[in-house]
Amino acid sequence: MNKTLKGMKLTAAALALSAGMAQAADVEVLHWWTSGGEAAALNVLKQDLEGQGIGWQDMPVAGGGGTEAMTVLRARVTSGDAPTAVQMLGFDILDWAKQDALANLNELAASEGWDSVVPAALQAFAKHDGKWISAPVNVHSTNWVWANKAVLDANGIAVPTTWDEFVAAVDALSAAGVTPIAHGGQAWQDATVFDAVAMSTGGPDFYKAAFIDLDPEALGSDTMKEAFDRMGYIRANVDENFSGRDWNLATAMVINGEAGFQMMGDWAKGEFLNAGKVPGEDFLCFRFPGTQEQVTFNADQFAMFDQGGVVSAEQAALASSILSPSFQSAFNVVKGSVPARTDVSDADFDACGKQGMKDLAAAASSGNLFGSMAHGHANPASVKNAMYDVITAHFNGEYDSETAVEELVSAVEIAQ
Ligand code: BGC
Repeated sequence: MNKTLKGMKLTAAALALSAGMAQAADVEVLHWWTSGGEAAALNVLKQDLEGQGIGWQDMPVAGGGGTEAMTVLRARVTSGDAPTAVQMLGFDILDWAKQDALANLNELAASEGWDSVVPAALQAFAKHDGKWISAPVNVHSTNWVWANKAVLDANGIAVPTTWDEFVAAVDALSAAGVTPIAHGGQAWQDATVFDAVAMSTGGPDFYKAAFIDLDPEALGSDTMKEAFDRMGYIRANVDENFSGRDWNLATAMVINGEAGFQMMGDWAKGEFLNAGKVPGEDFLCFRFPGTQEQVTFNADQFAMFDQGGVVSAEQAALASSILSPSFQSAFNVVKGSVPARTDVSDADFDACGKQGMKDLAAAASSGNLFGSMAHGHANPASVKNAMYDVITAHFNGEYDSETAVEELVSAVEIAQ
């Protein structure tokens, strides 16, 4: 760590103490980073804080996408025992802010100039009523495909760039007796795939109308039916043990060459790296065919729960560490995501990370950056969960595509 950055952290701690905040103690952090790659990334944060003399009380709640973590959080807050800091996504942060449960980080944000370095798309979820209420850690995106390069090479498959090319690649793997698609049948994973499939099927205007504006016409359209049909094709090309499988075990199938592709957010890259794999050599990353111009994003943030009207010293130190440029690089290199600041160099990132940073900047400036429906950045949890139910029921064969479209329209209407 260089002197300037170290200085920044001391400034934050001093700021906290000067504002009459308590002496730094442990931070208790509730999160869902329990896979190998996620744990490796979390260690970067733990070590950073330990270097400042702040202890770490770990409160992991397994379950990708954070549904289970949010259930545990509600129980903790209800019993008057909120953790110091909580990993959170999009609309969940705003929901807690509306209930006045989160600490106001404005003093720290002002002293460190967060307003000018955190992109507007993230500020929309990190600020409420003019107050900073969370510290953005990263930007992930969901419209990625991860592929085993040796498997593709052995079957003469080039990176598919359209849905039709994707179908041809999947059919070729299937004919060769390889599981084409590694998938875990959990509602949030089904929805993650649907993010990309819907974007590819209908394009950005359709995605926005259906998932962000909740336009009943888009939700009930033939395009949506086509998106469900494509999900049916994907369902037909996963292995028979997909049901309930954790996402990182699906990633392991691609890592081990048991499957060709996984459609998953870029946290999957953390698993490849943790297994010692190299992008471009062992595995390939590319945007889901037909979504090369778009980014469906989600950003992990740490919301600080209000501890009696003041920001505690350890909360300030945690937030300050998270926003520091050196941490943003070190953490996101390991996690698979890209920095939540616009001024961090891509020098330490691998080819997938560099592409992720480039794609994000391009999508933001061309109006092609959209909040992920599957990861809480398109709508509040009630609507998200209503969509999950329909997408999963269709994936599991309970609804045909026509019924799924009808159910989607009515479930979203009821959930609002
Ligand atoms: C989070 C990622 C996490 C993934 C799987 C997403 O919602 O944003 O940080 O790795 O879920 O657990």
